[in-house]
Amino acid sequence: MKILVTGGAGFIGSAFVRLVLERYPDDTVTTLDALTYAGNRANLSELEQNPRHSFVHGDIADVPLVDGLIAGHDAVVNFAAETHVDRSLLDPSAFLRSNVEGVYVLLDAVRRHGGRLVQVSTDEVYGDIPEGKFSLESDPLAPRSPYAAAKAGGELFCRSFSISYGIDVVVTRGCNTIGPRQYPEKLVPLFITNALEGRPLPVYGDGLQVRDWLHVEDHAAGIDLALRQGRSCEIYNIGAGNERPNIDVVRQLLAHLDKSECLIAYVPDRPGHDRRYALDSTKIRAHLGWAPQRDFEATLGDTIDWYLSHPEWWQAIRNASGEFAEYYERQYGWRLAAAGRDEG
Ligand code: TYD
Repeated sequence: MKILVTGGAGFIGSAFVRLVLERYPDDTVTTLDALTYAGNRANLSELEQNPRHSFVHGDIADVPLVDGLIAGHDAVVNFAAETHVDRSLLDPSAFLRSNVEGVYVLLDAVRRHGGRLVQVSTDEVYGDIPEGKFSLESDPLAPRSPYAAAKAGGELFCRSFSISYGIDVVVTRGCNTIGPRQYPEKLVPLFITNALEGRPLPVYGDGLQVRDWLHVEDHAAGIDLALRQGRSCEIYNIGAGNERPNIDVVRQLLAHLDKSECLIAYVPDRPGHDRRYALDSTKIRAHLGWAPQRDFEATLGDTIDWYLSHPEWWQAIRNASGEFAEYYERQYGWRLAAAGRDEG
């Protein structure tokens, strides 16, 4: 199969590219990535000499570029997105462009040229889930952040194109994903790298919000099954069943690093913060035979160990004058340039 992976230089996208090239010796992959702040060529560095992989620098909202690329591929798997809720609260417009307009451009090209589109979405489209309930694919969408609204909008375009034009689309909705190469703005990589630098860990509100945590390679395997065996027009939840309050994750992370809980700093809550996400992923388990290969301890442990053994990867991002430092100061009011514990 010839697969176009959009957003393939990002966190989950690059794990998916590696998985395909390792598992399927007859497949070829083209990565299209705009290399905005979270897209990173270093995430694909070991594939530079691989004759079955090629890289194109560009934007999914670029109509002629996307049209030409999709014409030569059997399927497109779309990871390209703005993904961070806190950034969507600071600047929603970029989310509308990537997560809605970009998806529309991909769909329109698939309509002209054929092939399958897998749209990688998120459990956040369901909104806040009360205790005891688990979201099913048939549940209503109730997004509450600009990020979640944009992802839901992209999904609704997928649904409308499959109904109106009969194009072949499959949607996946994954839970919180961790593992190697995640940009250190999200809870787990931010807290690992802050802890390693002796900086405070900013826990929003009471820290009792619940998320379900999945290893990136398990997530990529679920998306791969949806690509090859998923039924057209269907949606598949991909949840690990590892529900944990944030503060428990933070404590476990500090224990693994042998760092003091004194680093925990409670800060004002995220506006509109969803209290709980929880997926029922019976469908992908029963119909496609998917199951995560790691439990929560192995998922978190592997993530921490990767950051411990790859300081050059995250230190290049967390330099005091780069994009990350600017975001960090805007979001938390703390300066990366300040030495260690001066913050907070
Ligand atoms: P995040 O990694 O941003 O993922 P999402 O918002 O998509 O679930 O956040 C995971 C949880 O951690 C969420 O409840 C928000 C919380 N959080 C903090 O408490 N402090 C932080 O600095 C960040 C980034 C997140």
